[in-house]
Amino acid sequence: MSKEKYTVTAALPYANGPLHLGHVAGVYLPGDIFTRFLRMNGHDVAFVCGSDEHGAAITLRAKKEGITPQEIVDKYDGIIRQAFKDFDISFDIFHRTSEQLHHETAQDFFKVLDANDEFTKESSEQYYDQEYNQFLADRYISGTCPNCGHDSAYGDQCEKCGSTLSPTELIKPVSTLSGKTPIMRTTSHWYLPMERHEEWLTDWIQEGKLDGVQQHDPSKWRNQVIGQCMSWINAGLRPRAMTRDLDWGVKVPVEGGDGKVLYVWLDAPIGYISATKQWANDNNKDWKDYWTGDRKLVHFIGKDNIVFHAIIFPILLKAHKGLILPDNVPAYEFLNLEGDKFSTSRNWAVWLHEYLEECPDRIDELKYVLTSIAPETKDSEFTWKEYQTRVNSELAAILGNFVNRALVLTQKYYDGKTPQPGELTEYDKEVVAQMEAIPEKISKLVYAYKLREAQAEAMNLARLGNKYLADTEPWKLIKTDPVRVETIMNLALQITANLSIVLQPFLPGTAQKLSEFLNFKQGDWSNGGLMDQLSAGHQTAKPSILFPKVEDDFIEAQLAKLEASKSVESVFDQQKEDTNFDDFMKMDIRTGTILEAEKIKKADKLLKLLVDTGLDKRTIVSGIAKHYSPEDVIGKKVTVLMNLPPRKIRGVESQGMILMAENGKGELSFVGPEKDFKSGCGIH
Ligand code: MF3
Ligand code: ZN
Repeated sequence: MSKEKYTVTAALPYANGPLHLGHVAGVYLPGDIFTRFLRMNGHDVAFVCGSDEHGAAITLRAKKEGITPQEIVDKYDGIIRQAFKDFDISFDIFHRTSEQLHHETAQDFFKVLDANDEFTKESSEQYYDQEYNQFLADRYISGTCPNCGHDSAYGDQCEKCGSTLSPTELIKPVSTLSGKTPIMRTTSHWYLPMERHEEWLTDWIQEGKLDGVQQHDPSKWRNQVIGQCMSWINAGLRPRAMTRDLDWGVKVPVEGGDGKVLYVWLDAPIGYISATKQWANDNNKDWKDYWTGDRKLVHFIGKDNIVFHAIIFPILLKAHKGLILPDNVPAYEFLNLEGDKFSTSRNWAVWLHEYLEECPDRIDELKYVLTSIAPETKDSEFTWKEYQTRVNSELAAILGNFVNRALVLTQKYYDGKTPQPGELTEYDKEVVAQMEAIPEKISKLVYAYKLREAQAEAMNLARLGNKYLADTEPWKLIKTDPVRVETIMNLALQITANLSIVLQPFLPGTAQKLSEFLNFKQGDWSNGGLMDQLSAGHQTAKPSILFPKVEDDFIEAQLAKLEASKSVESVFDQQKEDTNFDDFMKMDIRTGTILEAEKIKKADKLLKLLVDTGLDKRTIVSGIAKHYSPEDVIGKKVTVLMNLPPRKIRGVESQGMILMAENGKGELSFVGPEKDFKSGCGIH
């Protein structure tokens, strides 16, 4: 294999929350495996990533947590950065888009495009929130999706059906800042006239050709990537605004740009370039070598990022001139969790940093499981049960068991010294042939971005070893044919040495342990599969257990934690928009006592209550019948909202509302005075 040059990127994670296993399985771990493999093959590689710190994802999170955007990105960049380090993801650099160097790089990029007339400037009417004095683009506006009817689609995308939207397409738009219906106001922006690029994009994506020159092999691109791009292109590309009226972001560096920042999807991918620059600066290299010439650019991303990496960023790169376009954009489908989508907002997630805190010695276990179930071609699912099975019956029972037997028997029979092999039997030769074939099989799969199968192939070497020992039974033969056992154990050790090579991209920690057990330096990929890795007499060490069993308790605890976290989050709903003191004071809230209660016919949720409010005795209809029977509630001290306009519910006039607390499981509780106060005391 000739040596090649690669720049590998992994999607910059938004610094608005920690990483969960879905992110890891479908971007960072595959990127890491691919890169480790390339390095072992002697290719010249840069693997870059960083935090994506602009855009509504950040500012809205800051608003939710009640801190500044800068505080948000500092907090989550820290958590993410540490988690990547602890999980041993081998980025050459993990940068930040809030760095000065990035701002400059993105601004220079913008200026070049502006000078090349690659933008148009247009003014248009856009939604505007009068209360917040802000234009509403992207996630600042939500409404009903025109395609699928989902009622909380964003101004840039519907997360239900995946369609790309613009704010004006939303039905019944509301501002996500104030919750109010926005007005229209005129503003002007720089647009990328994407329609100008339709033709070359089509050739480039479908045929891999640019100006008639073959650039990449489209048969290596995933169907989903080509499919999504072509359906976008076929629907007709339109001008897309590249600037926003916001104050958090990279300032528009040209005249007329006051108060405007770059669109986050323009700024963020340039983050790959600024990360490369920083790394080049730190290492006495020239960043341009990594973005020009005959170098392969590979973007590892999730499927929701496809058009940005396979259409928009390529347009920008080409328009800038001189920069390479991606050779491949391996996009991953989604990983689900225990039957449901991972969701940061619903807190339905296994957080990487929490896993690592809890299981600092089980890094390769997680890597192995995530690669085994990686959503390469369709959505897949993480369950704790499967985690347990894969660790116990694959890693421990096959790989761990084989390595342990090979090394322990070597200790026992030969004081750890590699025995001299005798003549190989036909069966031995067959095993050797299979062993020799494995690295090449893995290579083919990795270059085809089939990392799941590639890892399975590496595991096949452990399977082969395990089967070899089970078939030859050296522990029995030692009594009758000790000379034959020398050959068997030699072969078993050679397999172990080869495992320490081929496992490296996937399970680097385990590969390292094997090399220590064997007292053996692996060398590069080209050594994989060879016999005679260890010469006769070579001293090996005593092994320790590679993969301790995952016990049921652990799995149960993880499941319980997941359930609990789900309820916590729904209890602590996002804080509502500000109200004001006057509005609050308008509400008449008092203590009350329930005097009578009865069911309302044909309304299984409702109870009709007679409540002593101190002022009067009034009827209130309350939706608590699923939680309380009439007998339960008579005599209860409650809190009553008195001055809601009366309302007829199922023919009964309700004159107020009983306030209830609700927990994450949807259970209800009365809230009454904690001391023995009589009815009618004001609550303020
Ligand atoms: N932050 C984006 C996301 O999580 C990915 C940005 S990738 C980049 O979906 F190319 F823009 F950097
Ligand atoms: Zn939709």
